[in-house]
Amino acid sequence: FISLDCGLAPSEASPYIEPDTGLWFSSDSDFIQSGKIGKIDPSLPKTIKSYVTLRYFPDGIRNCYNLSVKQGTNYLMRFTALYGNYDGLNITPMFDLYVGPNFWVTIDLENKISGQSEEIIYIPRSNSLDLCLIKTGATTPMVSSVELRPLANDIYITESGSLKSFKRYYLTSSDTILSYPNDVKDRIWETKFDPEWMQISTALEANNSNGFLVPQNVLKTAAIPANDTAPFNITEELDFPDDQIYLYLHFSEVQALPIGDFREFDIFWNGQQFDKTIRPEYLKTTTIKSTTPVTCKGGVCNLELIRTTNSILPPLLNAIELYTVVKFPQVETNENDVVAILKIKAQYGLNRITWQGDPCVPQKFLWDGLNCNSTDTSTPPIITYLNLSSNGLEGTIAAAIQNLTHLEKLDLSNNNLTGEVPEFLANMKSLMLINLSKNNLIGLIPQALLDREKEGLQLIVDGEHRCLSGSCVTEKKIPVKTVAFVSSATVMVIIVLLVLIFAFKKKKSSSSKALPLSSIKLGENVTSTNISEISIEMKRRKFTYSEVMKITKNLARPLGEGGFGVVYHGDINGSQQVAVKLLSQSSTQGYKEFKAEVELLLRVHHINLVSLVGYCDERGHLALIYEYMSNGDLKHHLSGKHDSSVLKWSTRLQIAIDAALGLEYLHIGCRPPMVHRDVKSTNILLGEGFTAKLADFGLSRSFQLGGEYHVSTVVAGTPGYLDPECYRTGRLAELSDVYSFGVVLLEIITNQDVVDQTREKSHIAEWTAFMLNRGDIAGIMDPNLHGDYNSHSAWRVLELAMLCANPSSEKRPNMFQVVIELKECLTCEMSMKGNGQDMDSQSSPKVSISYDTKDLPSAR
Ligand SMILES: *[C@@H]1O[C@H](CO)[C@@H](O)[C@H](O)[C@H]1NC(C)=O
Ligand SMILES: *[C@@H]1O[C@H](CO)[C@@H](O)[C@H](O)[C@H]1NC(C)=O
Ligand SMILES: *[C@@H]1O[C@H](CO)[C@@H](O)[C@H](O)[C@H]1NC(C)=O
Ligand SMILES: *[C@@H]1O[C@H](CO)[C@@H](O)[C@H](O)[C@H]1NC(C)=O
Ligand SMILES: *[C@@H]1O[C@H](CO)[C@@H](O)[C@H](O)[C@H]1NC(C)=O
Repeated sequence: FISLDCGLAPSEASPYIEPDTGLWFSSDSDFIQSGKIGKIDPSLPKTIKSYVTLRYFPDGIRNCYNLSVKQGTNYLMRFTALYGNYDGLNITPMFDLYVGPNFWVTIDLENKISGQSEEIIYIPRSNSLDLCLIKTGATTPMVSSVELRPLANDIYITESGSLKSFKRYYLTSSDTILSYPNDVKDRIWETKFDPEWMQISTALEANNSNGFLVPQNVLKTAAIPANDTAPFNITEELDFPDDQIYLYLHFSEVQALPIGDFREFDIFWNGQQFDKTIRPEYLKTTTIKSTTPVTCKGGVCNLELIRTTNSILPPLLNAIELYTVVKFPQVETNENDVVAILKIKAQYGLNRITWQGDPCVPQKFLWDGLNCNSTDTSTPPIITYLNLSSNGLEGTIAAAIQNLTHLEKLDLSNNNLTGEVPEFLANMKSLMLINLSKNNLIGLIPQALLDREKEGLQLIVDGEHRCLSGSCVTEKKIPVKTVAFVSSATVMVIIVLLVLIFAFKKKKSSSSKALPLSSIKLGENVTSTNISEISIEMKRRKFTYSEVMKITKNLARPLGEGGFGVVYHGDINGSQQVAVKLLSQSSTQGYKEFKAEVELLLRVHHINLVSLVGYCDERGHLALIYEYMSNGDLKHHLSGKHDSSVLKWSTRLQIAIDAALGLEYLHIGCRPPMVHRDVKSTNILLGEGFTAKLADFGLSRSFQLGGEYHVSTVVAGTPGYLDPECYRTGRLAELSDVYSFGVVLLEIITNQDVVDQTREKSHIAEWTAFMLNRGDIAGIMDPNLHGDYNSHSAWRVLELAMLCANPSSEKRPNMFQVVIELKECLTCEMSMKGNGQDMDSQSSPKVSISYDTKDLPSAR
């Protein structure tokens, strides 16, 4: 039993035993968050203890009790309100009661000196039950007590809806109202007697074990018609004539009849025969009940018991119950969602007045900051929108949010949330918008979430970088990658597990030339303030054509020919060396691309990306002025054309790491992320000390521009470096850059041409796989290295390169993983060298391996 004495003052003992019934009553304060407490006028006649105090609700429209119940159990719920002039105003309240999202009854206390009690028999659809008081006019809703009594599930069954108690009485000339403990279920039995009746009774107890557990005191007395031959009649007038009625009749013979005597009668309910002819058994309960509801003509219900012609004795009746049907058509909000939102509410201590009762329904009482998908009343509504912006939330992002599985928009902006951005947000498939800006979140944005962003999720966080404010040093484990190489000669399977366990590097600060432009967005993402900032910056960096001529000394020293024009050496004021790319008139790079590259390079800054010093944009003359990279490009070096020196293996690894870092920054560090689309060895430039930087962003695309950002209509790039998948589908993604990077790695390892029609296999990846299958590892490595490398690190880089250049993009790692692995390779190389323990490079050729070549790209 749940028995709440509403408004019980904290100073009074709770729970206490109610003297009349012996039931334990407790304060309601744990079940409701709102309302004020009051006490009835003490000068009024004494009443039941639990009605003395009360709770009233001057604030809000809907105020709800939230009770823990057992789903599927039949409950008798009783609500009692006794006004008792608690506020001294002598205005009786009138308001509505709702069970969950459904209207139950109107409480109107006018002229009800002893209050109003309403009962309902209800089966909760979840483990929590909301009982809501709804303000409907000027008066203030109030409640004196709330009681819940579990009942057996096989009694009081309806076709649909719930049973609202209309009448329950037993036929006796006494006026003793029965309840607990007489009725173990605490039903309240009123009394009724009619002068046309005669009471008969017994002192003996009856067998009442037919499920209904009718109290003994009800079964001990019965009424029969005073006139032996007259029928037994009862009429009841309904409050609402159209109500549907369920009828329950309880019979128990109280007279021991001589053998041969019997009492037999028919029941007529509104003139219709009701059930079969009955003969009540001595001291044994028989209950006759409706299986379908009926309406009573004109709202007047009539019961008649007529003895059969053979019956020796007149009809008898002990007790009667009448219920009206209440329909509860609106189903409650999805239970998981309710549990989750209640957890969120509890975690953040949200005490909004509207956050009571069912979150979604009825629509007019929708919790503020929420939106739901509630199309019809028969499917549970689900929460699709949660906006807790500017609510002073503290602590971490609530884990319970992940259980709002249909959430589409989540706004937690402008709070004091701390901790990291949780990974689970990435797994919430419906999410389209997350606003986390203006919080104190730290750490890295999970990769999975960034991946979702590329699928169209709009993620709004402060700052431009993958790393939010604060330190990003955390231990992270990425999934174990397995690559299997199968030996064809020895038919031996060698499974190489790359267990990549590593610590994050501290984010390098961006180059010293970093501009205050971190919020500049491209294209349609440019906001008004950004536009002015970028245009100021663009003015500052703009050169005239005559200045360009001066810088390059009239194009005196060409450095080489790039994709879109010739590159010349130059210097600004005789101090800063620069490389000037003059876009040829016939260049395929249009003006739009030129502008895009300028804006992009003004926006991104990274030590491994070539930076833009300035540009020239005069009619007919377009030029880009880059920082000067004294050591030319990687391809040039590998080919040995730069000078006769050979790049050492460790230098090659460092170059690969630098280039990978630049690419990782584009993919992961930038916001919006970008793809380079033309990663190749000629676009990796080497500066002093062989610091490598990525160059040539003319084809780059940022990909946060709405839904189709992935799909590029033009397949651009350089043959041989082009992702075969991208080639087939025209989709552009950073995994295509990874493919190109893999090809560059293969060049670094093998120093082979990317495409060479004279080889057995023309494409470098095919050729490498072919050589691997032959077991000729030494034959793969650049002969110029003369075996001067640690075979273990070379092997790992080779594996990594083949993973990156995998024809299937799903199998490729991302650049973050690539960077980590390359760094480990370098560490491995250095430590082996340092210890003078170079593993025998001659041992590796003994391992003969096979590589599945069937879906490798063919040369283009
Ligand atoms: C009461 O009646 C039920 C069946 O209606 C029977 O199973 C049970 O044994 C009876 N109890 C007693 C004490 O006679
Ligand atoms: C008893 O009821 C019968 C049938 O309704 C009626 O005819 C008779 O007059 C009644 N007797 C008395 C004493 O009222
Ligand atoms: C969240 O609510 C705030 C204030 O009510 C509003 O400004 C903001 O636009 C809402 N966010 C979303 C995503 O609708
Ligand atoms: C999410 O729901 C599941 C099942 O209902 C529950 O076991 C889990 O604890 C919930 N998670 C959180 C964080 O509340
Ligand atoms: C995200 O929240 C911030 C702070 O409340 C607000 O200024 C910004 O407009 C929001 N962005 C979107 C797209 O809702």
